[in-house]
Amino acid sequence: MLMKAIVTGHSRGLGAAIAAELLGRDIPVLGLARTGNAGLAARFGGRLTELGIDLADAAHLAQWLGGEALGAWLGGCDTALLVNDAGTLQPMGALDLQQPAAVARAVALNVAAPLMLAAALCAASPPAAERRVLHVSSGAARKPYAGWSVYCATKAALDHHARAVAADALPRLRICSLAPGVVDTGMQAEIRATPLERFPLRDRFAEMQRSGGLISPQDCAAALVAHLLGDAFGSQPVADLRDLAR
Ligand SMILES: NC(=O)c1ccc[n+]([C@@H]2O[C@H](COP(=O)([O-])OP(=O)(O)OC[C@H]3O[C@@H](n4cnc5c(N)ncnc54)[C@H](OP(=O)(O)O)[C@@H]3O)[C@@H](O)[C@H]2O)c1
Repeated sequence: MLMKAIVTGHSRGLGAAIAAELLGRDIPVLGLARTGNAGLAARFGGRLTELGIDLADAAHLAQWLGGEALGAWLGGCDTALLVNDAGTLQPMGALDLQQPAAVARAVALNVAAPLMLAAALCAASPPAAERRVLHVSSGAARKPYAGWSVYCATKAALDHHARAVAADALPRLRICSLAPGVVDTGMQAEIRATPLERFPLRDRFAEMQRSGGLISPQDCAAALVAHLLGDAFGSQPVADLRDLAR
């Protein structure tokens, strides 16, 4: 049984740890991000294929997906996995602090790219293959945070996409929009470095870090991949890794 996985945002943070976890299980990974991951390439050699792409550029992504490359890479697999990890918190701040162009980039990266890739996976995977799509969501999809209106809205869109895709009940297609918990990555450092006027809850996240409340990307990725590969994957289209781990 040959599995193959597409992972967006494999260059650093949680996506890098997810890619490492999959590669460590001998699952070939196609990583999509603007920058490469030299560490993963050195560790796993030919099992990692990388595409340097700005996923906030929907026209460029559509052009790439309209070609033959994805189908060629997925050729021969029995199970095709897609982990939509790449995402941004920017622009942070209330409406009067948001640049419209930054809003458009966030929606393109956080929503358009995952939805485009999910559709492309179905078209490009071998007809008999099982397909599993995991959107990396957030607690912010389910609870409003001041300063994060764009982030909250885009992550909520992923949750509702997963619910509606599950309602389609396509054969051999499972999907889950999964909140990973609070993970010790560059995104958390970005939160702690944000001016309070843009993110009033900043100090709560700084305190969480000081008190050891962040999960490591490696531990989070191990639990996330175990869920992705498990029998129960897709039984709940919207889930929180912290609840699944209990
Ligand atoms: N960290 C947390 O506590 C937390 C909590 C809940 C949810 N999440 C979610 O988990 C996911 C990963 O977060 P993280 O904490 O690992 O973030 P991170 O450290 O900021 O990493 C973000 C990843 O996304 C990629 N990316 C960003 N902009 C991109 C673009 N325009 N085109 C292609 N790739 C792009 C980056 O690669 P390049 O810069 O190389 O392009 C990088 O690999 C995100 O969806 C985030 O919303 C994180």
